[in-house]
Amino acid sequence: METSETIVVNGGHHLEGDVQIAGAKNSVLKLMAASVMASGQTCIHNVPDISDVSVMQEVLKALGAQVSTEDDQDGGGHTLYIDTADLTTYVTPYDLVAQMRASISILGPLIARFGRARVAMPGGCRIGARSLDLHISSLESLGVTFDMDHGYIQAEAPDGLSSCEVLLDYPSVGATENLMMAATVADGDTHISNAAREPEIADLADFLNGMGADVEGAGSPNIVIHGVKELHPTEHTTVGDRIEAGTFLVAGALCGGPVHARGIDPDFLALPLKKLAQMGCDIETNDDVITVSRNGDIEPVDLQTLPHPGFPTDLQAQFMVLSSLAQGNSIVTENVFENRFMFASELGRMGADIRIDAHHALISGVDHLEGAPVEASDLRGGAALVLAGLAAEGESRVSHVEYIDRGYEDFVGKLRGLGAGVTRVPAPAD
Ligand code: UD1
Repeated sequence: METSETIVVNGGHHLEGDVQIAGAKNSVLKLMAASVMASGQTCIHNVPDISDVSVMQEVLKALGAQVSTEDDQDGGGHTLYIDTADLTTYVTPYDLVAQMRASISILGPLIARFGRARVAMPGGCRIGARSLDLHISSLESLGVTFDMDHGYIQAEAPDGLSSCEVLLDYPSVGATENLMMAATVADGDTHISNAAREPEIADLADFLNGMGADVEGAGSPNIVIHGVKELHPTEHTTVGDRIEAGTFLVAGALCGGPVHARGIDPDFLALPLKKLAQMGCDIETNDDVITVSRNGDIEPVDLQTLPHPGFPTDLQAQFMVLSSLAQGNSIVTENVFENRFMFASELGRMGADIRIDAHHALISGVDHLEGAPVEASDLRGGAALVLAGLAAEGESRVSHVEYIDRGYEDFVGKLRGLGAGVTRVPAPAD
């Protein structure tokens, strides 16, 4: 991660205009991991310039891949070229993997390519236990054996990968992806029931099918993977980032709008858009553009996070900021990650009235927030604190911007483009 910086927000500006949404972080990281399953050059378009992508590039380079980037011909994204012809190892180093939990998505692809993998236990945001039991047990069903030693996961498939039927206890995004990727080259048909249904799973399946895999049903709870002998490199354009889009839509809802989020399929955000409408926003959708504006009061809301198509946990913090300025009491229930209310105490320092009881937050709307120095402690909570600063009276300083850089390309530049009073400054010396 880069040296810590602070975002200074001067609140109270009206926001309106267009914002181009980048490719989905949670898709592209898996596409990058999947590229190691083929030998040769894969090309991925609409890649965001964010630090999690940089970490995954380093993971791929550590395996012996050649990685380069260039700006996309159209749109504001980037193109990534990954050449995996000369991979030299199936070991992923601790210093990289420990920075980012999504590195665990290299596990299934390495097993598919080498029949074995040695991957450090992942780190990432501090938002809960995030255990790997479902990744491990579902890969075991394919014939993989596991050992844990010295902070590493050692995986081997001594007799190759054989098809299986897996009923997931919970529709884990990462476990569904790891199993789906490894099963592409298993012997026979693999059936996954209770699979995660996030749009990024369907994007990964499209990518795998472009590599010559035969995956059906991705995006539904039942996925069937017909194993093939081998995969080849492909070219793919990443879907838009629904969480980045949702974040800018909340910014528009807080600060008036109209804000037009471009490059995002409105179907990916059906429930958040319904909630914005319930909260008093006007929403218009058109192909890959979503427009939000608000003229009247913010109405309170009840929402609970759930696996897709339920309300995304990655937008919970941003909606909590909006509900903190509502005319009445809101209840937000977090069902996906246990520690995801950490940022709420920082929001309280800006005048929000939030009571936490286990995985419920009771938010009593206040008539204004006040700018304050606050600290980001995870990616989405950090972005939510910047949103709070946009709506607050006076100056806010959000420190530890490196969390926000994990998932938002040029967050400050895009907000400024909408009229926000935001700048990035070096963190003061201790
Ligand atoms: C992905 C997303 C993350 C998003 C989350 C839920 C990426 C890089 N990250 O994370 O932004 O918030 O989906 O939409 O795509 N769990 C287990 N055992 C397991 C796996 C998960 O208990 O083996 C638990 C986790 O601790 C968590 C819950 O299941 O409480 C959801 O995890 P999962 O769906 O796997 O999310 P991630 O893939 O980690």
